[in-house]
Amino acid sequence: RKRIGVMTSGGDAPGMNAAVRAVVRMSIAKGCEAYAIYEGYEGLVKGGSLIKRMRWEDVRGWLSEGGTLIGTARCKEFRERAGRLAGAKNLILNGIDALIICGGDGSLTGADIFRSEWPGLLDELVKKKELTQEQINPFQHLNIVGLVGSIDNDMSSTDATIGAYSSLTRICQAVDFIDATAYSHSRAFVVEVMGRHCGWLALMAGVSTGADFVFLPEKPPAAGWEDEMCDIIAKHRKLGKRKTIVIVAEGAIDRDLKPVSASYVKDILVDKLGLDTRITTLGHVQRGGTACAYDRMLATLQGVEAVEAVLESTPETPSPMIAINENKITRKPLMDAVKLTQSVAACIKNKDFEGAMELRDAEFEE
Ligand code: F6P
Repeated sequence: RKRIGVMTSGGDAPGMNAAVRAVVRMSIAKGCEAYAIYEGYEGLVKGGSLIKRMRWEDVRGWLSEGGTLIGTARCKEFRERAGRLAGAKNLILNGIDALIICGGDGSLTGADIFRSEWPGLLDELVKKKELTQEQINPFQHLNIVGLVGSIDNDMSSTDATIGAYSSLTRICQAVDFIDATAYSHSRAFVVEVMGRHCGWLALMAGVSTGADFVFLPEKPPAAGWEDEMCDIIAKHRKLGKRKTIVIVAEGAIDRDLKPVSASYVKDILVDKLGLDTRITTLGHVQRGGTACAYDRMLATLQGVEAVEAVLESTPETPSPMIAINENKITRKPLMDAVKLTQSVAACIKNKDFEGAMELRDAEFEE
């Protein structure tokens, strides 16, 4: 019986438990055995009790749990070949030759490297007498399937990552709460949101809450933005608005790639407009908590698709990433998506902001 491993890696995201549940139950429904690898790649490297067979009932109630119940960790050892050798050995000892990983682009790239080194890793383990030829013979091919779990929605080739809409929902709730107190005192609030180098959460939160101004990494404001921002806010105030909300993505930069900090924005609002201003950094509140309905559904449909992808894959199939495009669950070549994600980041680093936008647009025209 085929044994399928599932793990979560990188920052936790709401919906990861729904993804693990779907993988476990779909694996069982398809006559396979499901194994959870606890603590991300650390579990793979350490093995032992961190690799555990999962039964149908082990994932009962997981749809409504936040975070990831099988744990996650940032694992340095797996970046080294020695760590990947240990991981390969643990997989063979457990008879697992398919891995479904729910994580961000870094975690999924690590998985693809692992696959590309296979079965060389196994041959090395035999040479080192850590495994026998008989043990490795049935496992000459390793299947990797990626599920993108991240609140940042920062992966190319998919419209939504697991966790992004839950986080957006939480941000909107928080801004609604802030609105009430801002309105009462006629104050301004600068709200810093997560997203690493991606502005999706900030932009969509701005649209969803009617913010006055938004700062994003992908579209840095032109020089002199301080005056532009103040003019817009002054206009809104003149029209009778009592509250001001400015959303700053944590990765926001200006055209010289210098960070745009919430405290600098606050100083401008105080000095130029005389607004009584506070800063709210939402922090991990926007990452924890239960998944919204969309993420539960997305993770479940994608978990099911990931198992199908494992069962249909051949040694020639490139590792797939399970995506959603125009509301359909799709499979995309994992490394193409990673490369596209990294090209956008490289454009921004080289101050080629138009290039970054073109790449994003091209993705939607595909
Ligand atoms: O990638 C998810 C994320 O929450 C980012 O938005 C943020 O930059 C980062 O992780 C925070 O990481 P940590 O939890 O390690 O502080």
